[in-house]
Amino acid sequence: MSYGTSVLGLGSYLPEDVYNNFYFEQYVETTDEWIRTRTGIRERRFVRDGMATSDIATLAAQEALKKSNLKADEIDLIIVATATPDRLFPSTACTVQEKLRAKKAAAFDISAGCSGFIYALACASQFIENGLFQRALVIGAETLSKFIDMKDRTTCVLMGDGAGAMVLERTDGESQLLSFYLGADGTGGQYLELPAGGSHLPASLETVEKKLHYIKMDGSLVFKWAVEKMVLSGLEATRRAGLDLKEIDWLLPHQANIRIIQSVASRLGFPMEKVLLSLETIGNTSAASIPLTLSQSLREGKIKDGDLLLLLGFGAGFTWGGAVLRWSGGKNERE
Ligand SMILES: CC(C)(COP(=O)(O)OP(=O)(O)OC[C@H]1O[C@@H](n2cnc3c(N)ncnc32)[C@H](O)[C@@H]1OP(=O)(O)O)[C@@H](O)C(=O)NCCC(=O)NCCS
Repeated sequence: MSYGTSVLGLGSYLPEDVYNNFYFEQYVETTDEWIRTRTGIRERRFVRDGMATSDIATLAAQEALKKSNLKADEIDLIIVATATPDRLFPSTACTVQEKLRAKKAAAFDISAGCSGFIYALACASQFIENGLFQRALVIGAETLSKFIDMKDRTTCVLMGDGAGAMVLERTDGESQLLSFYLGADGTGGQYLELPAGGSHLPASLETVEKKLHYIKMDGSLVFKWAVEKMVLSGLEATRRAGLDLKEIDWLLPHQANIRIIQSVASRLGFPMEKVLLSLETIGNTSAASIPLTLSQSLREGKIKDGDLLLLLGFGAGFTWGGAVLRWSGGKNERE
């Protein structure tokens, strides 16, 4: 018996507090004009003190469950993709499991940076399609604001907080997830990292003084890799789905920088009208960017039943990935 994966519903959560580009002028030498033209970002949301990744992941998950008409104890598996977990351990997914009271669910995190949601989706669909689990909750959630150095203009203006969740269910019919392609190259690890706090460099007074518990990035190097690997992921995922790029209705790339997205779209032959975007108002939300952009585009009524979506990710690791999704309903999304 072979099974497929269907998408039941989506949920999202964005913090209430909005920070526009002018906010950063008090901390670093930057301008709204530089940020808008070099990144495409106008504003982003940050969580308030006391709110952790598991809190916003749980809020997104609750909405996804509601839209899927399911109770938390009907979920068999929770995967949280995040680069900003609550703690090194236990996993954020276990904390979400507790908060949701999803008593039946196995739970674990995936660490694949901004590609995390695609990695998590691929992983959950394998469990579902081999028959081990019937329903999974896949969440991308980040509180990047807690890990940015407000004195580092090359990173602080880029990031935003948010969470997106998707409920998947086993089906006897055709899978909505038509293909996956995943890749990684650890030689890129040093160019986008959070250096201290792990076993390699445990937290100490010195690591804090040197600000090694904040995100460090070589932006222009990451930029070039992101373009190259998202293009590769797009070509591979489409080929594996047995499709031609011309048949894809929507390109849904990770939202890091509008110039990265334009470059990827142009190389894959997509006009910008066929690209789904959210970064102008939410910034780079890492593993949350794909489900957040999908939710927003569904609310805007852009995506129709039967549309083919090409999801692309690139992030710390380096990691990258692509997936082809045939949209079909969710139960709910345009309500
Ligand atoms: C970070 C990023 C916006 C920088 O844009 P860029 O065109 O590559 O710019 P560069 O890094 O070459 O920097 C150009 C200049 O702008 C400066 N600059 C960087 N950030 C700035 C800011 N916020 N405001 C003003 N100037 C800034 C740099 O210091 C540099 O100045 P210099 O020439 O005097 O040294 C871009 O590389 C990027 O988006 N990279 C990917 C980032 C990302 O989101 N990664 C996460 C995972 S995918």
